[in-house]
Amino acid sequence: MQDNTTKPLLFEPIEIRGIKAKNRIVVSPMCQYVSNEGMPNDWNLVHLGRYAFGGAGIIYGEETAVETRGRKSYQCAGIWDDCHIAGYRRINEFIKSLGAVPAIQLGHTGSKASCRGPMEQFAALTDDDVKNGMPPWQGLAPSALNSVKRRFLPKEMDSGDISIVQGCFREAVKRSVDAGFEIIEIHGAHGYLLHQFLSPTSNFRTDSYGGDLQGRMRFPLEVAEIVREALPKNLPLSFRLSAVDGKGGAWGFSESKVFARALEERGVDIIDISSGGITGDGNLPNVPRVQGYHVGFSEGFKHEVDALVMVVGSITKPEQAEDILRSGKADLIGMSRELMYHSDWPLHAARELGVSDYFSLQPDPYAFRLRKRAADKLLANNAPEEAKKAFVKLYRS
Ligand SMILES: Cc1cc2nc3c(=O)[nH]c(=O)nc-3n(C[C@H](O)[C@H](O)[C@H](O)COP(=O)(O)O)c2cc1C
Repeated sequence: MQDNTTKPLLFEPIEIRGIKAKNRIVVSPMCQYVSNEGMPNDWNLVHLGRYAFGGAGIIYGEETAVETRGRKSYQCAGIWDDCHIAGYRRINEFIKSLGAVPAIQLGHTGSKASCRGPMEQFAALTDDDVKNGMPPWQGLAPSALNSVKRRFLPKEMDSGDISIVQGCFREAVKRSVDAGFEIIEIHGAHGYLLHQFLSPTSNFRTDSYGGDLQGRMRFPLEVAEIVREALPKNLPLSFRLSAVDGKGGAWGFSESKVFARALEERGVDIIDISSGGITGDGNLPNVPRVQGYHVGFSEGFKHEVDALVMVVGSITKPEQAEDILRSGKADLIGMSRELMYHSDWPLHAARELGVSDYFSLQPDPYAFRLRKRAADKLLANNAPEEAKKAFVKLYRS
């Protein structure tokens, strides 16, 4: 079947190192809080499988803890043990069979550990949880601050903790590759451990991992180096950063641009732009949640780095996504909530943007039936003869 029309950029394939994605629609990570001892299960298969069915090019799984202390809740996903590998492999094989690229986001929550899920407002674990066999645990942090009101102050990481956590990232990468993930993302945003090192609001260290910007960037940059080293050369590395802290924070856009350049020097291929997660008493406001609320930032990063830039944040309309790419403000379009709402958004976007064989975004058994239905409808209607011929040639051949 020949498609002679020019494809919108959103549906142009993209090559990143040795990986080729069929389009530039990326399912942004979404924590599900359904795991038992970190294990992926059928929920994750269906949750992620829907997006593969729907035609997304790259599918990120949720933030996945590299060690047990690095979880937010007891229900968080994990990859701290070899026993997790087979479960992820099953999901990844399914995603790949539908022509999408499976990606993992590796994370460590730092001081935000030891809480319930989002439907319970991330409330700290209490005595009731102890009775239910889920005692609170002590998180780790660059500095021992109780900024998120947990049962215990987090432990200020000493050099031993630093190398343990870095080792956990290294081992998690090896397991991820074994499980068939084709892109690895480091979660360095949203006020979790790596971001806690970056922001002067949460890092008060006086050793070489704190102080000025170079010192505060040291731990996350070392993690990036370790992950890159453990990752085969053909697989891309992505890093999600908060372009700015949240309300009252102190980590700003100029710092994050310096940081992005340093990440690129260490072999990071995709800078994934988000914001917020650390709050304080400073002057920074929250980023207003308007349509495409990170696009101003991603455009700024495009001027700073040669690495690919992924943007996320209320991108819901096909024309909006296409315009962001065409105007060079980002290279990849991340989406979460709109895809939760309708996971076959890529199919509808392709249709709206004029991709002729938009059904091909769906698996063959679906595409075949839908093409046939469309051709039958057209034949039954009084469409002009030329249009009928072209359509039937395309959809019935
Ligand atoms: C249910 C849900 C879970 C999320 N979990 C994560 C996560 O695990 N890691 C992460 O970096 N962002 C997470 N996010 C943020 C999304 O990846 C995305 O950046 C955000 O929702 C903005 O994109 P949207 O407007 O397309 O939803 C989550 C968002 C949602 C809605």
